[in-house]
This record gives sequence, C-alpha cells and structure tokens, in this order.
Amino acid sequence: MASPLVDAQEHSGGMSRVAQMVAAQLTRAAIFLVVTIKQGPEHAATIRSFCGDLSALLRAVEFRDIEGQLSCILGFGSTAWNVLFGPPRPAELHAFPEIRAGARHAVSTPGDLLFHIRAKRMDLCFELATQIMARIGDATTPQDEVHGFRYFDDRDLIGFVDGTENPRGEDASTAVLIGEEDAPFAGGSYVIVQKYLHDLEGWNALSTEEQEKIIGRKKLSDIELDDSIKPSSAHNALTTIVEDGKEVKILRDNMPFGSVTQAEFGTYFIGYSRSPRTIETMLENMFVGRPPGNYDRLLDFSRAVTGSLFFVPSATFLDNVTADQDSEVQPAVAESPASPPEPEPPPSLPSGREGSLGIGSLKGEIRHE
Ligand code: HEM
Repeated sequence: MASPLVDAQEHSGGMSRVAQMVAAQLTRAAIFLVVTIKQGPEHAATIRSFCGDLSALLRAVEFRDIEGQLSCILGFGSTAWNVLFGPPRPAELHAFPEIRAGARHAVSTPGDLLFHIRAKRMDLCFELATQIMARIGDATTPQDEVHGFRYFDDRDLIGFVDGTENPRGEDASTAVLIGEEDAPFAGGSYVIVQKYLHDLEGWNALSTEEQEKIIGRKKLSDIELDDSIKPSSAHNALTTIVEDGKEVKILRDNMPFGSVTQAEFGTYFIGYSRSPRTIETMLENMFVGRPPGNYDRLLDFSRAVTGSLFFVPSATFLDNVTADQDSEVQPAVAESPASPPEPEPPPSLPSGREGSLGIGSLKGEIRHE
C-alpha cells in the first residue's frame, strides 16, 4: 500500500524521487500548523531527526483507519532551510514578500515549518498533530494552528463553491511538482499559506449579483460568469495567469475555519505550485490590481492576517535526512517576521556543511536510482 507521505514519482535527469502527497484528494478535515524553530543547534538536530521519522509516524496513525485518507505535507521556510540543511538551496525559496496597496496588506509572518494535515476525519488529523508536537514541541514555538472543515457543497464561508478550477490528475502533478528546471529538487513543490478573516456582515449586505461579479461565478450553480458580464476585477479573472499563451495553474485546498463566539469567519488559503512566482503574481493582481488599481474586491471584505512561503521537498529527501551534523556552526533561526526578505544564503554559513549533513550523499543515492 502506498505511504501516506507519498504522491507521485518525479524523474529528472535520470534521478527518481517520490513526491510528498501534495496533490492528495480534497478531504473533509484539515489542520494547518505553523511553527518556528527555537535557537540552538540541539533544536535543529531534533527537527532533522524528526524529518526522517515522519513517514513512520504517519503510517502508525494512518493505520488506525486506513480508509481515512490521512496525509501530511511538511514544508520549510527560507531561514529554516539554511539552518537545517544549508546549501544547496531550492532555486526559488525565499521569504514571503509582503504587499501593501491602499488599505490592502498581504502581511508576511514568521514560519519555519508548515504541517498540512488532511484526512476524512478530524480525529485522525488531531492525533497526528498531537504526535508531531510531542516530538518537536520542545524545539519549536507555535505560530499558528487552524482547524479547517468542509462546509456545505465545498463552499467557503462567503457562500461560494471553492476549488472548482483546480487542476486534476496528471495536470495537478504538472502544476505543482518541480522538474528539470531545478533538477536537484525535482519532485518538490512550493506552498504559500494565508489566513483570511471575512467581514461577513458587510459581505452579506451585498446582493447576490454583486457578490457573483466579485467572484466571477454564479453563487448557486457555481457556473462561471460569461466574459461579457464578468468584470476584469473578478477574483477568477485576476487569478488567471497566462504565460506563452498557456494558463499556468496552481493547486488550492482552501478550508473554512472560525469561532462563532468571537465572530471569526475565515478562509485558510493554501496554494501549491512548482514556482512561487505564479502565486505571487496572483497576489500582486489581487492586492495591487491588474492594471494597478483594478484590484480584487473580495479584499474589501477579507483581511489577510498571516502569510508565509515554504518549500516542500520530496518524500525521498525527507526520508534521508539525519540528525547528525556539526551543529555548533549553525546560524540562529530568526523568530522575527520574515519581511523584508533576508539575503540568501546568509554570509555566516560555513562552507562544506553540505557533506556534514549527509545531503551530499543523499544526492548520490538518488542519482543512482
Ligand atoms: C479570501 C480568500 C479567498 C477566497 C474566499 C477564495 C475563493 C475562491 C472562489 C470561490 C473561487 C471560484 C471557484 C474555484 O475555481 O475555486 C476561487 C478561484 C480561484 N482562486 Fe481564490 N479565494 C481566496 C484567495 C485566493 C488567493 C490568495 C489566491 C492566489 C493567490 C487564489 C487563487 C484562486 C485561483 C487560481 C482560482 C481559480 C481561477 C480560475 O481558474 O477560474 N484565491 N477562489
């Protein structure tokens, strides 16, 4: 039976790597955990040792209900990558760039590790999250924890079906998995997360027709608005990216979350892509506008309160990470907000760390597969 960590194989230049379950099926429940790593070489070593054990941990919890489709994606922030692994780095890994435009603000918030845990049942997600934190809790500081649920007909809390235009099957793998363009990291992916809070009172005061023009689809039937009536500022217009005549897709698994007594009604945005540039361009279009000023009106009713970017290495990479490393030379993890982007790699990185981590030998193994 396939491992819950494993999605697809990516072949690149004769190398074969197994991807994490990035393109897993949409599930009814999810937990999004973002943590930072505490300063100190012993904490970095704890995380590295945990990386190699994650798939076994996942199998143990998954087996309690094999039909529950439990999966877990682990992503690493830019600073964390330097601390844990050093060079070589994924070509496009950087801190999430904040965007300010008028009253709109895409914030950049701290995050060294992202766990995206999905299952048909929340108890499976909860158990895995508990087991993960039992292993790494002393080495990390929690930054954010969101428990997401599916809402009627896969709708978000603003009442629209969310996820319709996601690529499927082979197209999904092509959209999210790195290939030849960064061969040492083939089978990896990038992921951007943002936690949005909605002004539901304001949103619900709009007519259905006004809401449909903001999203670009019919609310009840989920049918796309005809181009003759769809405004160029519609959400699905601004998030459509065409390069060389071809649409560049991303894979989203947004989840509603909230707290009724706190009047908190949210959408946790999570988008995977083989280049973070695609999602960053979508965000520019939404926040600044295309052309500038023609921004996404959804943002008049939705505020981003977190924002982070992570690299998701292949499952093969994770399985081969080991704790041992000359940790005394580790630079400290910054726990302050990630913006502005830090220079990469930091000049304090000693040379020759690659070999001491065993990542050099990992690359050798892959090449021979
Ligand atoms: C407030 C948070 C958000 C909400 C409530 C939301 C909701 C929606 C809805 C209802 C759709 C139409 C159905 C579908 O195709 O899934 C949609 C489409 C889409 N959204 Fe969002 N979204 C949010 C944020 C974002 C962000 C931050 C991005 C990317 C940076 C994004 C990218 C997309 C894309 C690529 C599509 C498909 C466009 C198409 O090909 O038609 N969304 N979203």
